[in-house]
Amino acid sequence: MATESRPLPGTAALAAPRLWVYHDAMTTTLPSPLLNRPATLKGRISTELGKLHAAGLYITPRVLEAPQRARTRILGQDVINLASNNYLGFADHPFVKERAIQYVRQWGAGAGAVRTIAGTLSIHEDLETQLAAFKHTGSALVLQSGFTTNQGVLGTLLQEGDLVVSDELNHASIIDGLRLAKATKKVFRHKDMQDLRRVLRENPCGGLIMVVTDGVFSMDGDIAPLDELVAVAREYGAVTYVDDAHGSGVLGEQGRGTVHHFGLQDADDVLQIGTLSKAWGVVGGYAAGPAELRDLLINRARPFLFSTGHPPAVVGALSAAIELVQSDPSFMERLWANTRFFKAELGRLGFDTFGSQTPITPVIFGEAETAFEASRRLLDLGIFAVGLGFPTVPRGLARIRNIVTAEHTREDLEQALSAYETVGREMGVIGG
Ligand SMILES: Cc1ncc(COP(=O)(O)O)c(C=O)c1O
Repeated sequence: MATESRPLPGTAALAAPRLWVYHDAMTTTLPSPLLNRPATLKGRISTELGKLHAAGLYITPRVLEAPQRARTRILGQDVINLASNNYLGFADHPFVKERAIQYVRQWGAGAGAVRTIAGTLSIHEDLETQLAAFKHTGSALVLQSGFTTNQGVLGTLLQEGDLVVSDELNHASIIDGLRLAKATKKVFRHKDMQDLRRVLRENPCGGLIMVVTDGVFSMDGDIAPLDELVAVAREYGAVTYVDDAHGSGVLGEQGRGTVHHFGLQDADDVLQIGTLSKAWGVVGGYAAGPAELRDLLINRARPFLFSTGHPPAVVGALSAAIELVQSDPSFMERLWANTRFFKAELGRLGFDTFGSQTPITPVIFGEAETAFEASRRLLDLGIFAVGLGFPTVPRGLARIRNIVTAEHTREDLEQALSAYETVGREMGVIGG
């Protein structure tokens, strides 16, 4: 494909309309398919919106009119919130907020530059040291989000001649990260170790081999069988990459994550990736692994190199959140007591929670319209819980995805269960 430099404003027009495509460090031009009648911006937007409406995929986000808490406010109504990822209740915790405010006073509002140029403050490095100690790894690097962490790490580590094998239910950010990776990509059936073995056997590779999995799967709330998975990976000389977005702060001693839950924290062939936006209640992503991993990512991970680092408020809040979970075990104790209670009661009422093992508790309604209608009915009864259908989850397994948090009281959960019972009976999903 020919490359050429972009014309300066005011220079002669190109012979034909062209579309600009940004690709790596180059600017490349492609001939427009609509030479006589270029598409208009408004036309493109309305066509795409029309497609979303026609497919029933158009999303209107609910707006919270009060802070992110177990009880919040939507459409002027007080609701019990079962829709957040705020597992430990840190998003609005006074200790976490206080540290954010303190860091703003001391360090300012912004980092001021990309981390590799002038935007690394000593508090960024302190947070990374704290995270590496927490994860028991030689190093940790913090990136802007869990999403960009998957893009940066997979894009950096995987090269042409490598093989990457990914669980079919891995998160969208892994899928997009793999699009950036030049390795051969294969998929194995969800948590199916026989199938993983088959894929590894059928694809011999002399480069780096990597098996990629979520630690906790975000739609079903099930846990990857990491003990078996790492053993299978090792049979083929593969390293294991665990995206622990929903395991960190939830599983393992003091919430150290799924890798710790399986006692694999000292393995140097297991990478721990995750987000700082869920149990930690703030925003950001991290990659934790061998000491040299941080050095390589600083030099190669494109989101780290080309996007400004976190403002001091984020760094302060995160350092407080990690401290809090380590100093006070009651957050995790309440999270798990609430999780056990809620799941057991839903089961007793006759709902199918799809074998979930973590605070992510799906309630299966079958068809998407039924799940969406149930979500609307629950909201009428003061319960905020979001319905999910195809393509987010498989057809016929549309559901309401609930996340129980440490902040919910027993009374909150009883009220939610009573609403579920009413809606479930009205809609014929449970008996009686
Ligand atoms: C498994 C997994 N990885 C990554 C992400 C993205 O994390 P973040 O919100 O920090 O970008 C999510 C969030 O939904 C997730 O569930």
